[in-house]
Amino acid sequence: MKIGICTGGGDCPGLNAVIRGVVRFASQHPGMEIIGIRDGMNGLMQRPMRAHPLTLDGVQDILHRGGTILGTCNQGGNPYESDQREVSIRNTLEGVKNLGLDALLVVGGEGTQGMAKTLVDHGVPVIGIPKTIDNDLPGTDQTIGFSSCVDIVADAVFRLRSTAESHDRIMVLEVMGRDSGYIALHGGIAGGAHVILIPEIPFAYEPVCATIQRRKQQGRNFSLVVVSEGAHEDAASPYYGGNTTGVKNLGGIGSIVASTLFEKTKMDTRYTVLGHLQRGGMPSSWDRILANRFAVHAMDLVMRKQFGCIVALQGATLTQVPYDQIESFQRKKVDLASDIVHTAEATGICLGR
Ligand code: F6P
Repeated sequence: MKIGICTGGGDCPGLNAVIRGVVRFASQHPGMEIIGIRDGMNGLMQRPMRAHPLTLDGVQDILHRGGTILGTCNQGGNPYESDQREVSIRNTLEGVKNLGLDALLVVGGEGTQGMAKTLVDHGVPVIGIPKTIDNDLPGTDQTIGFSSCVDIVADAVFRLRSTAESHDRIMVLEVMGRDSGYIALHGGIAGGAHVILIPEIPFAYEPVCATIQRRKQQGRNFSLVVVSEGAHEDAASPYYGGNTTGVKNLGGIGSIVASTLFEKTKMDTRYTVLGHLQRGGMPSSWDRILANRFAVHAMDLVMRKQFGCIVALQGATLTQVPYDQIESFQRKKVDLASDIVHTAEATGICLGR
C-alpha cells in the first residue's frame, strides 16, 4: 500500500510526532510505503508536484521537534471553493492518481479538513487527523497542539505573576484561539489568572474592575488578565488589528483592555501579546502521546479500508467521525454549560460577566 500524508494550515507542536508515528507503523508492515506531501495539499495540487518517500531514517529525532518537516500552508482561503475550484480539484485528483496513493492522511484543522471533505466527496480515500492549537475542530474533544499551547500560556501567566506582584501592576496577556476561548480558558486556569476574557462571553469592564478592586482590598495589589484574541466587549465586534502582513487577522484587544483598565482603575498596567510563541517549540508529552495515538488509529482505519472519516478523541476513547457528520466545519466553541467554565467561576476567576 502507498499512503500519502500532508500537514496543512497553521503549524503546531506535535505534527512531526504524527508523521513519525505513521512511518513507524508502516515500518512494521512490509510493503507499506509512506509518501510525504509538501506544503499541505499544495504538494498535490501544484505543478511540479512535491512529494517524496518517508523512511525511518528520515523521521529519526523528530518526535520532540516543533513545526512540520513536510511544511504547511495557511493561504487563508479554500482553493476548492475559489474561482480556481475546478482546476484545483482536478490537479489534486490527478496528483493522488499519479502518485498511486491508496490512502491520503490529512493532518489539519478546520480549513484543511474542509478541503479534505471535498476530496472525500470526489472519491479520494482520506483519513483526517485533527490538529490546531485552537482546539476548535468539531467532532473531537482535543486536537494535537492544544495541550502544548496551554502549557506555554500557563507558563507565561506564571512568569507574569512575579513581575506583576513586584510592581503592583495589572498584567494583560493576549493569547490566540481565533473565535474560540479554549486556549485562554485552559491556559488561564492552569497559570493562575484572575480574569479570563473569551469570545464566547462578551465582556463588561465593570465586573473585571470589581475583581481587581476586591483583590486590592484583600491586600493583593496585582492582577493577571488573560484575553483571547477574539474576545470583545458586550455590543462590540472582535478587533482585527493583528500584527501580520497582507492578511486580516484577529489581534490587538490586549492593548485595548490594558489601556481601559488603566483608565478605570488608575493602576499601573502592561500588556503582552504571546503571538506565535504559542505555536513553536517542543510538543508536550500529552501531545506526543495523542499524536502517536491518532497516527496509529488512522493507520488501523487504513488497514481496514475505512475511509472518509476523521480520527477523534471523545472522552478517553479514540474513535472516528465521518466527514459528512462534521457540521460543515463550523468552528467549535467553548460550551458555556461545561464544567471548565463552572470550574473557572467557582474558583473566583472573573470571566467578564
Ligand atoms: O489557527 C491557529 C492560529 O494560530 C490562530 O490561533 C491565530 O489566529 C492564527 O492561527 C494566526 O495565523 P497566522 O499564523 O497565519 O498569523
